[in-house]
Amino acid sequence: MRIAVIPGSFDPITNGHMDIILRARELFDRVVVLVAVNADKNPSFTPAERVLLIEKCIAGYDDVMVDCFDGLLVDYVKQVGACAIVKGLRAMSDFEYEFQMALYNKKLYPDAETLFMTTSTENLYLSSSGVKSIARYGRDVSDFVPAVISQQVLERISQGKGER
Ligand code: PNS
Repeated sequence: MRIAVIPGSFDPITNGHMDIILRARELFDRVVVLVAVNADKNPSFTPAERVLLIEKCIAGYDDVMVDCFDGLLVDYVKQVGACAIVKGLRAMSDFEYEFQMALYNKKLYPDAETLFMTTSTENLYLSSSGVKSIARYGRDVSDFVPAVISQQVLERISQGKGER
């Protein structure tokens, strides 16, 4: 079974993340969306909230699961027997950080490959922080996050709970 791990902050998950997750399904038998607990120093959503939001978005896809991990990514990858780490790249600005991470991860665990997937053009500008900026001012975010979570994201962020 070929398993891919898609790690990230997912604070919150966006249409850009969903696009990468669904495209990774075509390449792997199972896709694990991994919420990294310490990825962001000041996340707006708790890890449990981020997992619940992702669960709603991936409902119906039996080959996609979500998990949460506080530790080194490669330790999780090894634990679940994944052969790949998949990341979406929007622009060159994403590349430097991701390339460095990929090299660290390859050194720490040579059995897994990092695959960079090009973001679809309609999602090139999307970011979790952009979505939160819009929601903070009470504006609808259903163009940017999956419809099943847009209201929840808006309410959570606009009610002043966007910063912790
Ligand atoms: O969505 P993000 O914030 O770009 O995700 C970054 C993430 C979670 C993929 C990255 O910070 C990560 O892998 N963190 C776990 C710690 C780790 O394994 N670091 C790599 C070795 S330095």
